[in-house]
Parts: sequence; structure tokens; C-alpha cells
Amino acid sequence: MTDDTPLLDVRGLQTAFHTKDGAWLAVDGVDLTVARGEIVGLVGESGSGKSVTGFSLIGLIDPPGEVVGGQVLFDGQDLRAQDEESLRRLRGSRIAMIFQDPLMTLNPVLRISEQMMEAILTHHPDTSKQEAQARCLEALTMVGIPAPESRLHNYPHEFSGGMRQRVAIAIAMLNQPELIIADEPTTALDVTIQGQILYQMQQLCRQNNTAMIWITHDLGVVAELADKVAVMYAGRIVEYGPVSEVLAAPRHPYTLGLLQSMPAAAAPGSRLNQIDGMAPTLTGRETGCTFRPRCSRARPECASAAPPQTGDDKRYFRCYSPVATPQEHA
Ligand SMILES: Nc1ncnc2c1ncn2[C@@H]1O[C@H](COP(=O)(O)OP(=O)(O)OP(=O)(O)O)[C@@H](O)[C@H]1O
Ligand SMILES: [Mg+2]
Repeated sequence: MTDDTPLLDVRGLQTAFHTKDGAWLAVDGVDLTVARGEIVGLVGESGSGKSVTGFSLIGLIDPPGEVVGGQVLFDGQDLRAQDEESLRRLRGSRIAMIFQDPLMTLNPVLRISEQMMEAILTHHPDTSKQEAQARCLEALTMVGIPAPESRLHNYPHEFSGGMRQRVAIAIAMLNQPELIIADEPTTALDVTIQGQILYQMQQLCRQNNTAMIWITHDLGVVAELADKVAVMYAGRIVEYGPVSEVLAAPRHPYTLGLLQSMPAAAAPGSRLNQIDGMAPTLTGRETGCTFRPRCSRARPECASAAPPQTGDDKRYFRCYSPVATPQEHA
């Protein structure tokens, strides 16, 4: 592989849920590239398909869900062609997942030490016990757990929510993955702890050249943490690009709506601007642009077909009636 081959290259990913009324695409043609060491924020409101995308990438979709289309190239290998055993080997070693609920990673009846040792020894059985233990301590220290020597022997319930999430992050980092998929891991935590964890994750990724997809509904988090942002709406990425460019000059009306609903964007004391309307349900999707019923810029052609991609792979949006750039305004 050449150096400019992206670590992750997703093309046309489609994931369906089979229901008695037929199959519905929760993820409908997602393209996403992530370079080594790059942090990509995947942002969108509830139900837009962020988690389904994350799970689809690493083969964690169970029936009635099914990945039905597209390619997921990880370091040049097509993950959709891998069997379950190879995918299991990859998860927890080269690719790690951090969930919103740390108890999806942590086993409540095992001490942290046992779980961490197992995470190392499963993927690297030749590691000596001493060396593995040193790595566990190092990982707990990295994520800011005080007195890691004694904490190592605690059970998950002996940690606060924030500390438990740090432990889950430490486990994700243990085998120095090349890619982390983090699904809203700080959403349930208070803002100060969220800020600390975001900062630490960013530092860890920079130090180890680890790439990360950070799933969130919060553009503020993306602004702080990520290099690139992919804005998701109803199963599609509707805008993509470097965070600074997208935030300074959003082109998709949905991205603009998300930006305007951020607390910092509102004048002190003013009401938050909500995006009117509801996200479409899977069964209620029509032809044309799925954002159309909520869009103040909609015009007749928006009903014709899904908007094509405008721009290149580095910066694009899908909209027939894009928001003007600041230059166009001037
Ligand atoms: N097991 C399932 N069976 C049927 N539909 C599902 C299943 N899991 C997810 N979906 C549907 O797929 C769509 C996308 O869900 P997903 O969980 O990816 O949303 P999300 O963007 O992660 O939202 P949130 O911010 O609330 O976590 C939703 O409409 C959801 O109802
Ligand atoms: Mg989700």
C-alpha cells in the first residue's frame, strides 16, 4: 500500500433492515474516507444512521439488519469479504469500538485487570504477564485514572460513569489500534468530563497516529475534536469536508440548521433555533431530497431525485439549492 492510500475507504455502503413490509435502507450509499491519524466527526440527529454506519463498518450488524451494498476497504482489504473469525481478530486489535454505554465493553463480574489482560492476551498470546500488566497500567494512566495500581483490581461498578468510560477507552487503546470508532462515548457525561476526555482522546490519537471516527449529534464536539466532518441525514452524508471549512461556510441547509442550533451560535439569552420538523422515518422516505419537507430553501426540482454530489472527495455537499458562501454573499 502506498502512503496516500486511505486507512479506511468506504464506498456506497448500504445497510437495510428487513421488516414485514419490505427492506428499508437505514444507511443509503455512504462514502467515507479516513486517512491514518485523521479524526472524522460523523454528525447528525437521532435516527440519521450514525450508529448503523459504525456497526456496519466492522461487521456488527445483526438480523433483521444486513449490509446489502458497497465496499469497506480497511488498509486495502475488503472487510465485507472477511469471515466472522477474521473480523473478530481485527476488532480489538487493529480496529477498536467505543460505545455510548461503557458496560457494552466492560463485563460487570470481572475485575478490570482480568478484562484488560484478556484484551491483550487474546490478540497477542505471546506477551508475558509482566509486560501485559505494565501495558494495562500505562493505558489507565494515559486516560487519567488516578492510582491505577489499586484501581486495576476494582470491578466496573466501583467506578463512576466518567471513570468507567475512561476504562473502556483504555481497553480500546490497549492494542494500539489503527482505527477507533467511537459512538457517542461522552454524551452521557457532564460537560467538564466530556471536555477532558475529548482532549485526551485527541492527544492519544495524535501521539499514536490513530485514526478515529467520532459519532455525535453535537457539532460543538466536532469543532473541538475533529479534522473532517461528515454530516449525515436520513442515511446519507449530505455534506463533507474539513471542519474549519464546513463550519465557516456550510453549504447544505441541514448543516446550517445544525450550526444555528448550537448554543454558542445564539446570542446570549436568545432562544435556541431548532430545525423545524421531524427526521423522516425509514418507511416515510420519498423520492427526491429527504430533507425537502423541512427545508426553507426547497424548490420543485428537489422532489425529482436525490441530489447528486457537488464538489470533490475532499469537500462536497448534496443539495440543489445550497446556502451561499460568504464570498457569494459579499
Ligand atoms: N435493530 C433495528 N431494527 C430496525 N431498525 C433499526 C434497528 N437499529 C436501527 N434501526 C433504524 O435505523 C435508523 C438509524 O438508526 P441509528 O441507530 O443508526 O441512528 P443514530 O444516528 O445512531 O441515532 P442516535 O443519535 O439516536 O444514536 C433508525 O431509523 C432506526 O430506527
Ligand atoms: Mg446512535
